[in-house]
Amino acid sequence: MTYLTTPIYYVNDVPHVGHAYTTVLADALARWHRLAGRPVRLITGTDEHGAKVQRAAAEVGVTPAALATTTAGRFRSTWDRLGIGYDEFIRTTSATHRRTVTTLLTRLYEAGHLRRARYDGRYCVACEAYTTRAVCPVHGRPTEQIGEENWFFRLSAFAGPLAEWFDRCPDAVQPAERRNEALGWLRRGLVDFSISRANLTWGIPLPWEPTQVTYVWFDALASYLTAAGWPEPDFHRWWPPRHVIGKDIVRFHAVYWPAILLAAGLPLPERVTVHGFLLQRGSKIAKSGERAVPLDDLIDRFGPEALRYHLLRDNPVGPDGEFSVAAVEARYRADLANTLGNLLSRVTALVVSHHGGLGPAPRPDSPLAPVAAECAETGVAGWEAGQPAEALTAAWRLVAAANAYLVSARPWRTAPGSAEAVEVLGAALEALRIVAVLAAPAIPRTAARIWRQLGLDGYAPRVPADLAWGGYPGGRPVERATPLFPRLTPPAQPVR
Ligand code: ME8
Ligand code: MG
Repeated sequence: MTYLTTPIYYVNDVPHVGHAYTTVLADALARWHRLAGRPVRLITGTDEHGAKVQRAAAEVGVTPAALATTTAGRFRSTWDRLGIGYDEFIRTTSATHRRTVTTLLTRLYEAGHLRRARYDGRYCVACEAYTTRAVCPVHGRPTEQIGEENWFFRLSAFAGPLAEWFDRCPDAVQPAERRNEALGWLRRGLVDFSISRANLTWGIPLPWEPTQVTYVWFDALASYLTAAGWPEPDFHRWWPPRHVIGKDIVRFHAVYWPAILLAAGLPLPERVTVHGFLLQRGSKIAKSGERAVPLDDLIDRFGPEALRYHLLRDNPVGPDGEFSVAAVEARYRADLANTLGNLLSRVTALVVSHHGGLGPAPRPDSPLAPVAAECAETGVAGWEAGQPAEALTAAWRLVAAANAYLVSARPWRTAPGSAEAVEVLGAALEALRIVAVLAAPAIPRTAARIWRQLGLDGYAPRVPADLAWGGYPGGRPVERATPLFPRLTPPAQPVR
């Protein structure tokens, strides 16, 4: 059982390529687990309460509920375009989620983990976070002074149990740099934090003091429980979760959240995978407008598959990466249209024109077989380590080797039906089948198209079995089709 989550996105703004990166990453990991035959539940959704959303709605003159519905629709349709196979899209304004939050709060309240106290301090609305700084280091904007009676979660009581968790599960927070960051916060001491707001109405009321609403981060984290079905006992079918997040929200996921779960007597996350930021000219892409490239334009120009491929191939999980349209375009041309697309069209064309349209089976002693075995092994290791870039690099080494083999054997120069031609074509078809299996989590629609062209309709591969050399049965009707990645035409409007 694998229960995978993306962050739930704020609805003050529409999705941008940074959100797409997290979501595509989680989707690809979910697809890999499915290929490996593990039951998977992937969830995503929107974070709809809080001051930030309330203000964004006021600025455009609509109710927060209306803004939330519109923007949630935008996220959902964008994820559908990008081929995100989520099992549930969770909205924090739903009645089921309200019940989760209310139940969780009541449980903590009754167990004595909450206390009433005055908060006099600063707050960054853009982060939706309490802070000691006068200017937010993330947003570069002044923070606001707040003074109100709140309910506090006794985080300080969980320093010991959290340290124990980090000891017992050294791989829980990845990569190690992020784990160390969290350990640093533990070492410097944990301070109780407020889980309610008195001067805000857009939120879930506290059950025992309904003039206060729940702090938006408490509300948001609880969505992971809602989407697993909690408090129904069968939530254990999926729990504990594996979270995929960006490096801006580590404190919430690696400290606050496990402490809340400990207080509620619930199992802690199995894994928190933290990725870096996509940057543009060195700074975090943080808004859909202004300098950022509109996500819809990117999908229109390159298609969902090429964008997914670029995001995963060029952004190893962990460090920051500079985003550019030129880089998407380069991957489109080099890896997808040329290396992969050309191999498929050359091979299928030859099989159709010289070999009666039936693809030959690969020979077990093909010179490509050991290359395929090595690439598959590295690819599997990459996916299992949660590093799609490594898996895709390995897959493209096999495509390159198949192209090189084709170029040196030149089957178009040999007589139709000759043993050498049959051998090289069988090997190339098999390499294409294996590459499509290995790359399927990243480019699922392309993988399915490749299989169809190889005559493998209705093919439902399983790894690792279907990565072994010799899986292509031969004798299948190979199809010559339109290119997988057609030549790019210049955009009508320049994509910045
Ligand atoms: O933080 N590069 O929502 P959010 C890479 N609602 N990833 C990026 C990115 C960038 N430039 N910009 C955003 C919230 N992201 C909360 C989460 S979860 C219980 C609540 C991704 O709309 C990254 O994963 O600000 C980041 O953590 C997430 O979007 C934050 O989205
Ligand atoms: Mg954010």
